[in-house]
This record gives sequence, structure tokens and C-alpha cells, in this order.
Amino acid sequence: MKVLSAMQPSGTLHLGNFFGSMLPNRGYQDSAEQALFFIVDLHAMTTVHDGNLLRQLRQDAARDYIAAGFDPDKAIIFFQSYVPEHAELSWILSTLTPMGLLERSVSYKDKVQKGIDTNAGLFTYPVLMAADILLYDADTVPVGKDQKQHVEMARDIAQKFNNAFGETFVLPEPEVRAEVAVVPGTDGQKMSKSYNNTIPLFGDEKAIQKAIMGTVTDSKEKDDPKDPDSCVIYQIHKLLLDESAASALADEYKNGLPYGDAKKKLFESYMDYFGEMRKKHESLTEDYLSDVLEEGAKKARAIAGPKMEAVKKAVGLL
Ligand code: ADP
Ligand code: TRP
Repeated sequence: MKVLSAMQPSGTLHLGNFFGSMLPNRGYQDSAEQALFFIVDLHAMTTVHDGNLLRQLRQDAARDYIAAGFDPDKAIIFFQSYVPEHAELSWILSTLTPMGLLERSVSYKDKVQKGIDTNAGLFTYPVLMAADILLYDADTVPVGKDQKQHVEMARDIAQKFNNAFGETFVLPEPEVRAEVAVVPGTDGQKMSKSYNNTIPLFGDEKAIQKAIMGTVTDSKEKDDPKDPDSCVIYQIHKLLLDESAASALADEYKNGLPYGDAKKKLFESYMDYFGEMRKKHESLTEDYLSDVLEEGAKKARAIAGPKMEAVKKAVGLL
């Protein structure tokens, strides 16, 4: 299995990102024959128009993912723009991508509807994403539900290319992560940075504590029995525990654990669970990160380069 996943460098990562996408994706670095993880700085340019900010965002993302256990000894980790073949292939693919295909993109239509300033890059976003995937013969692309259509577009574009120029690309399959793992935010809705209800993974311990202590509860009195299944604090806490610890904690709720104490316990477990990761986050030097990203780009180019040559031969550029 050849797996590939890419992350938008879009700011502070939270518990929902960790359990919903980072943890399952990270697992592939142990099981797949080839695993690539990269930070899509070129895609980010469709919305970030500030050079210093982009540099900072992508560097932060690299630090976050590597601290979270994405391992350069097991997977190829790099910045998208360090491998110029992505942009080059994107152009070639755009010349055979029907306008109608892009016009059907739900995520683009969403943005238009929300009144977001669009640009040509936003419209052709799925073509660059197709290039990301097709360059590496990826057969499996793990994504959230919202990205499934984009992977299907990559498949359509690959098919078109193969029909026009001969078998060149592997047809990728989206692997949509099960929705069972929706992590609730501190207000009980889905945790999302757009709802301001997140518990961050990294950064100031006080901010984490504040977020946890601010989690919503119902109005049960201090010693009343509590229902763990309808309690957001418990729903978050159990993600951090094994089955027997989770069930022991559920019993404590039923026996009247006060919400204030439940939150303190959650904070302790949070720090236990993420302590090592947080320490690593502090200790990664800029030099180390630069080395990893350059090394990763070299390995990526060793795959993307020959692929690009085959593409150029097929289309008549070589
Ligand atoms: P946000 O909603 O905070 O903007 P993103 O859309 O950047 O998060 O999330 C990136 C990935 O993280 C998503 O594709 C999804 O798989 C995962 N994710 C985000 N929030 C949650 C959540 N609350 N529960 C489960 N997974 C989540
Ligand atoms: N569009 C994806 C997102 O917003 C990021 C992405 C870019 C991607 N290129 C990719 C994901 C290739 C998987 C494969 O999350």
C-alpha cells in the first residue's frame, strides 16, 4: 500500500485534529510500504497572502506534526513547495481538467456561497491536489469526509490522462475516516477552530487548563450522580484512557464526582497523555526541522522526478 496525506498549515492544532486525523494517519507510517506526509504551503497561498505568516505557519505545522510522532525515519516528510514537480504537474493536469469538473467542487461552491474572496488558485485547488497524489503513485489517500470529492477528482483526472496519453498514473482511492471519532469541543458541539471551543495540543499549559475548566456541564449539584455518557468532560476524557480506566472513571461519575474535580482529573490526564509530545515540541530545534524537511524533499524528488519525466515523455515535452 502506498499512502499519502497532506496537511494544511492552518494554525493551532487541537484534540479533534489529533484523534480525528493525526493519530489514524500516523499509523500508516508503520503499516504502509510507502508513506508520505507533507505540508501544503502552495495550497495555503490560496488564502494566506503574507510571506512572514506563511513561513511561520508551515514551520509551526512541521514542528507540530513531528512532535506528534510523524517520524522522518519511517515516512517522507516535507514542504510541498520544496518539490517543484507538484506545481509543474499541476499545470499539465490543468490542461486536461474540464471546467465542469472543477465547477462541481463542493468545497469551492461553499466558499463562494460564504462570500469568501475567490481566486483562480482556489478554483484550481483540486488540480494541484491531484498532482500531489498522482506524482507518487499513491493508491490510498486517507482523508476527512470533506476531502473525499477532491480525491475522486484526482482519480478522474488520472483516468483522463491515462486515456489520452497511455497508462501513466495509478488511480487513487480515498479512504474516508470513520466519523465515529468526532471529538466534542468544550461547548459540546464538534470541536473546531471555527467554533472557538478547542483544547490545544501545544502551547501554554494555562490556556489548556482554562479551556478544560471552561467545559460546559449541566446544572447537577456537587454530589448528585452524573451521567458520563451525556457529559462532555467524560466524553473527552475517555479518549485519553484505556477501557478499564474509562470504566472506573464512569463509575466515579455515577457516584457523584463533582464537575470541578472531573475537570481537574481531565487536565491531569491530558498532561500525562500529551506530556512527552509537548516536551518534544519544545526541544525540536529549527536546524533539526530544516534538515528533516530538506532530506524529506530529496526523498520525495527521487520519486517525483522520474514520474515527471514519464509524464513529459508522454505529453511531448521530452
Ligand atoms: P477545524 O474544524 O478545527 O478547522 P480542520 O478542518 O482543520 O479542523 O481539521 C483537519 C482534520 O482534523 C479534519 O479533516 C478532521 O479529520 C479532523 N478533525 C477536526 N476536528 C475534529 C473533531 N472535532 N473530531 C474529529 N476529527 C476532527
Ligand atoms: N485539501 C486537503 C485539506 O484541506 C489538503 C491536501 C492537499 C491533501 N493536497 C492533498 C490531502 C493530497 C490529501 C492528499 O485537508
